[in-house]
Amino acid sequence: MEIIDTIRKHPLYKEHYGKLQELEKGRVFCHHDMAHFLDVARIAHIHNLERDLKIRKEVIYAAALLHDIGKDRQYTEKIPHERASAEIAEQILNDVATGTASAEIAGSEQERRRETFSGEERDEILQAILGHRKRRGGMGVLEELLYVSDKQSRSCFACAAKEGCDWSEEEKNDRIKS
Ligand SMILES: [Fe+2]
Repeated sequence: MEIIDTIRKHPLYKEHYGKLQELEKGRVFCHHDMAHFLDVARIAHIHNLERDLKIRKEVIYAAALLHDIGKDRQYTEKIPHERASAEIAEQILNDVATGTASAEIAGSEQERRRETFSGEERDEILQAILGHRKRRGGMGVLEELLYVSDKQSRSCFACAAKEGCDWSEEEKNDRIKS
């Protein structure tokens, strides 16, 4: 799982994560922070195991860690965050895959070779990020997993701000879902 920390420590990741936390200070609605990203990753991995989907854990965690990372650009530039996140993710994943991340953040050459994504995995992660906001026919396996896990991660039934939330009543979780 070294590769997941390589993503988290990437300068572009840290830049957008820092901006996003600043922009969401005082926000009464759901936050897009490390707790949310890890909730989504862990829920998705539970489904992965229960449904025997055989997706590599690193792929699930990468998609979860990156899926909302461009939300700051939605606030500041009105770019839908799935698009902004996919753009940022593509740059980070290309660095991780090609080894242009610095030695300091990538670990040893040997570790980097062992912990990388195939081109197919990278494309699946990017598609999952792009499609994570809406259910649609023909979703990829990882895409659908990210969509479901993202929604299940929110405890709307216990949220003080649920009346003003822009999720539809059908989208809001009125009970614990697993
Ligand atoms: Fe999310």
